Amino acid sequence: MSRVTVSAPANIALLKYWGSACLDEGIPLNRSLSMTLETCRSRTTSEHLEEGGEDEVWIAASDGSLSPPPAGFRRRAERHLDALRRITGLTGAFRITTSNSFPADAGLASSASGFAALAIAVTRSAGLDPGPEELSVLARASGSGSAARSTFGGYVLWPGSDDPESPARQLAPASHWPLVDLVAVVAEEAKSVSSREGHERAVTSPHFGTRQDLLPPRLDAMREAIVARDLDELGPLVEEEAIELHLVAMSSRPPVFYWRPETLTVLETVRELRAAGLPAYATIDAGPNVHVLCEPTHEDSIAAALGAAPGVVEVIHDRTGEGPRLEEEHLR
Ligand code: DP6
Repeated sequence: MSRVTVSAPANIALLKYWGSACLDEGIPLNRSLSMTLETCRSRTTSEHLEEGGEDEVWIAASDGSLSPPPAGFRRRAERHLDALRRITGLTGAFRITTSNSFPADAGLASSASGFAALAIAVTRSAGLDPGPEELSVLARASGSGSAARSTFGGYVLWPGSDDPESPARQLAPASHWPLVDLVAVVAEEAKSVSSREGHERAVTSPHFGTRQDLLPPRLDAMREAIVARDLDELGPLVEEEAIELHLVAMSSRPPVFYWRPETLTVLETVRELRAAGLPAYATIDAGPNVHVLCEPTHEDSIAAALGAAPGVVEVIHDRTGEGPRLEEEHLR
């Protein structure tokens, strides 16, 4: 019986996956582009129970105590384990223990880091050694499509339904352009509408079709801005993209409102920072919390302003990350 522990990062989507061609297999309708993070991570220990038995899933708290996961997470993890066995031909059960360094299910991409860590830990504990592209496909098989991007570090592109079998791939390593992502947390509890439900409803928005036409030129412009390391080019594209995702969500039938009043307060703070000459740009995944991108030189002043904004309960300092890694210390 071998034990493997993997730490995998969350990622923040700069161009977002919203609307799915196949929810169970995590096939997006559109291409997406993300930056892998460093601090927001999931750690997962997998033990391959070769003698058989049942899969076990545990959550480890920071004091090391173990508890059973919420039913929804347990079901998703078990489905992912079945998909991993089906795709790789592995047999036997797995004992999975996992923990997050940040609030789960609040739009901070805990599924992306969690399922990327699960795919890597499970395959390694069973003696396989897939590369990041194969792992991208295995992570996506969880149904959490954005997990496909968390098997790489740096800046990552993930094809859409035009190329459904393809894995994500790295556009540039973290060292190409280290940026800071300050996460202004305004709510730590789980969001009321899952991303899965949001993807399903997205196509009912009258603005969904328009968005599909706007995405390809926006993606090209984002890629050029990343190559040129130009935040003043990238930032406005990232902001318009985030607003558009929420425009589609809010105009879906029935509508999905992830924002809270505090979300708007943070967006206003970001605009004020820019007016005061500090380049800061906001993006928001499927939740109320705001990711604010900036250059490392402006990190402290921008973090101070975000921390002082009414309703911000915490500012998480994150940055462009190198991707998943194996860890020596196991969770159990
Ligand atoms: C708004 O289906 O990957 O974050 O399973 O909750 O991780 P989870 O969601 P997923 O959808 C992600 C939606 C998004 C945009 C993105 O990450 O591209």
